[in-house]
Amino acid sequence: MRKQIAAANWKMNLSKNEADSLLDQLVASELNLSENQSAIFAVPAIYIPLAIQKLAGKQQMFVAAQNCHQKANGAYTGEIAASMYASVGVNHIVLGHSERREFFAESDSLLAEKTEAVLAIGSTPIFCCGEPLSIREAGTQNSFVEAQLKNALFQLSADQIIKVVIAYEPIWAIGTGKTATSAQAQEIHAYIRSVFASKYGQTVADQISILYGGSVKAANAKEIFSQPDVDGGLVGGASLIATEFTAIINALKS
Ligand code: 13P
Repeated sequence: MRKQIAAANWKMNLSKNEADSLLDQLVASELNLSENQSAIFAVPAIYIPLAIQKLAGKQQMFVAAQNCHQKANGAYTGEIAASMYASVGVNHIVLGHSERREFFAESDSLLAEKTEAVLAIGSTPIFCCGEPLSIREAGTQNSFVEAQLKNALFQLSADQIIKVVIAYEPIWAIGTGKTATSAQAQEIHAYIRSVFASKYGQTVADQISILYGGSVKAANAKEIFSQPDVDGGLVGGASLIATEFTAIINALKS
């Protein structure tokens, strides 16, 4: 059974006091995470020590980074290496979010390097893909996303690819209040799985968790997560509200 994951992406939000209070509320919530479920919190890097301290001892709850540098170390002022995150207990790293692709010009080839850097130290990349509105309107989303996956991930071995979590996030649904319907999500998630199956075989593809992101909230999480190829969500806005994100965690399939 592949992992079911509710991942919070706080992006560049919250003051230290707000982060503190949100983490306290989350820790105090009634969460029933089973062994194949996890809740992951991609917080701004500066709040990682705080989040680690608050979540200490919590089963199946992990702190993640929102990005990392592709090199192991060196003269890269302002950057943070995957191994540095690992050294403070952060073993999940979001890569290739559409905001990083758009605002920081991250290309598929750079993301291939970053993915390899994260895997090389034994951490888990949460690799984002997804199409803009123009591509969805043209009906070419499958080939667009397939190219993102092929260009950044197909150099990996089967042993490596099963360690990658995929997050499909249609850009037109991010922060817009518009979600893909559960049928649209299922259709492209199944397509993504078939892309991996054609390269690595069905058994490998069946082990890859594929998360949906884009205006997931408490009110729609259960319906979206109930789809057979949707293994949870990557959540922005609703992850900043404890009651919302708690309900999203509790909407995961068991
Ligand atoms: P929203 O949930 O705010 O639409 O953001 C989705 C997202 O970008 C998560 O990475």
